[in-house]
Amino acid sequence: ERQIFVTRHGESEDNLAGRIGGDAPLSEKGRKFSKCLSRFVKERRIAFALDLARRKIEQEQESKYPLKDSDEEELSAEEEFDQHRTEKKVKARAEAISNSQFTIWTSMLKRSMQTAESFDPDEYDIKHIRFLNEINSGSREGMTYEEIKAQHPSEFKARQDDKLYYRYPGMGGESYIDVIHRLQSMIIELERMNQSCLIVTHRVVLRILLGYLLEWSQTQMPHMLVPIHTVYELRPKPYGVELTSWTWDE
Ligand code: F6P
Repeated sequence: ERQIFVTRHGESEDNLAGRIGGDAPLSEKGRKFSKCLSRFVKERRIAFALDLARRKIEQEQESKYPLKDSDEEELSAEEEFDQHRTEKKVKARAEAISNSQFTIWTSMLKRSMQTAESFDPDEYDIKHIRFLNEINSGSREGMTYEEIKAQHPSEFKARQDDKLYYRYPGMGGESYIDVIHRLQSMIIELERMNQSCLIVTHRVVLRILLGYLLEWSQTQMPHMLVPIHTVYELRPKPYGVELTSWTWDE
């Protein structure tokens, strides 16, 4: 079992100004989020490790001492002795689980790398990956939606009509479909590595990753609400994926 945390970067200077794309640093609030994020992930990892360790040890004990017909039946001295040691075993096992390798992936954009800066590099394996960068909005990089709407109304409408296939004009401009394609190798790696991780990325990439893991349809995916300062924790299970999310409120 493992935990996959995904989130967008903390608030950036461009988020404040409403500009899309670019490579702005975090705002002050964004930097605060980054600090809370590292504490939060640590806490969740410990809670997960304790829960997993307890379940595993209970399973082991159940197979050693199958359930009795009556609860009132007295415990043997050996059982009692084992019960006494359970808590210690749970703690030791949980410590081993929470010390196991945990990977952090960010994009190569400042706002995403800065969001992971408060994680101790001695404790975490942190990688910056270009594939996780935000959608490239070509010649519309750095503009606000209002500016695009006022200066390029037909383009603005074309994107609203077909957000999935609309490709931004200009050098490197991408569509959601383009980003889905460039993320394919990341998704394969995410499935393959089979260890707990945190991915700090951007709105479009987050929609696509969540869409893949939670089986959203391609038509709804570009419209899903994925605000900043919200952390999604996914636990893949044999029957699907368990999702919990938290929004940080300053
Ligand atoms: O505004 C932040 C941002 O990540 C932009 O950089 C990006 O172009 C946009 O969100 C993507 O969201 P949407 O596809 O809804 O326009």
